[in-house]
Amino acid sequence: MAKAIIWQVDPLTPAPEIIERAAGILRSGGLVAFPTETVYGLGADAFNPAAVAGIFRVKGRPADNPLILHVADREMVYRLAVRVNEPAGRLMEVFWPGPLTLVLPRRKEVPPAVSAGLETVAVRMPAHQVALDLIRAAGVPVAAPSANLSGRPSPTTAAHVWEDLGEDIDAILDAGPAGIGVESTVVDLTAPVPVVLRPGGVTMEELSAFIGEVRIDSLAEGGSAGTGKNGDSYEKPRSPGLKYRHYAPRASLILVEGDPREVPAKVRELADLKRAGGLKVGILASAESAGSYRQGNVVVAGSRQCPEQIAARLYSALRYFDELSVDVIIAEGVEPAGLGLAVMNRLRRAAAEIIRN
Ligand code: TXA
Ligand code: MG
Repeated sequence: MAKAIIWQVDPLTPAPEIIERAAGILRSGGLVAFPTETVYGLGADAFNPAAVAGIFRVKGRPADNPLILHVADREMVYRLAVRVNEPAGRLMEVFWPGPLTLVLPRRKEVPPAVSAGLETVAVRMPAHQVALDLIRAAGVPVAAPSANLSGRPSPTTAAHVWEDLGEDIDAILDAGPAGIGVESTVVDLTAPVPVVLRPGGVTMEELSAFIGEVRIDSLAEGGSAGTGKNGDSYEKPRSPGLKYRHYAPRASLILVEGDPREVPAKVRELADLKRAGGLKVGILASAESAGSYRQGNVVVAGSRQCPEQIAARLYSALRYFDELSVDVIIAEGVEPAGLGLAVMNRLRRAAAEIIRN
């Protein structure tokens, strides 16, 4: 395929002619990358099986990892889901448009490949004008995973999309960097108690404030399979994507968790050890301790007090280390609360090794 056309668009008032052209590509079965408030997505017409197959092909995505369907209004939800139960309705009311994906019972009209053969479908309304205008103009729900090669960090800029997929897709809508920087929260509403399958832009704290008890899948925390937060086990459903090692930079990543007063010394010790072994080291540091690292390629992710900052820079930092061709990345952990839970989930899943102080 030819190289993608890149269209620059204003994030708040995208030019209708450009949106219309991009929507035309979607309607005719093509692939268009577009910005959302979380990360860039790779879109295709959800009802076109050949287009959906194209998403899996260009990303190198395993066929058993289902896609999120993006909608611009509630009507579209009913074309995808058999029913919207009470908690689901409430969550849509409060958090849509926004970084929350709901897993609902699937209508059989939805091509099975979209949901990797599951009986459910994942739906979200993104809080980004370009995404909403595009979906509305296309007139169909838009299947869109993150617009990265499978296994690479998700793209937070159009340049990241270009780097991974520029040769293989039709167009990229460039509206500048994504704001949140980590993906949406995925919540399964087909379980008796809602289960968070992937922590993301909407926090556990925010969710339970509106629907009461919410569980978190143990794999979503980065722990071992089979048990929930309270140690109780349940079988299905789970997010199939969780079993893959994700978000991985090319270098191997060592995550150092624990008491923030002790983490920097441990990071320095590890960095010295790796350097002595002849390796090129990168350090993903908090603003608070960055000054204590005297050598090496230090990237400041943000303040430990502000997980929003760290989330917004996380994926571009991981890609930057790849550009520097470091052999090993040593990353400071953050407190797994609020948006910090999503950050830690991504770091744990990218990590080759986790050190708990
Ligand atoms: O923020 C986001 O969610 C971004 C933007 C583009 O919207 N999209 C995104 O898509 O992160 P993707 O494909 O990278 O991740 C989708 C996640 C995977 O973990 C997948 O397993 C899960 O959603 N998922 C999709 N459909 C599901 C289903 N029916 N049941 C359970 N999990 C599902
Ligand atoms: Mg992804």
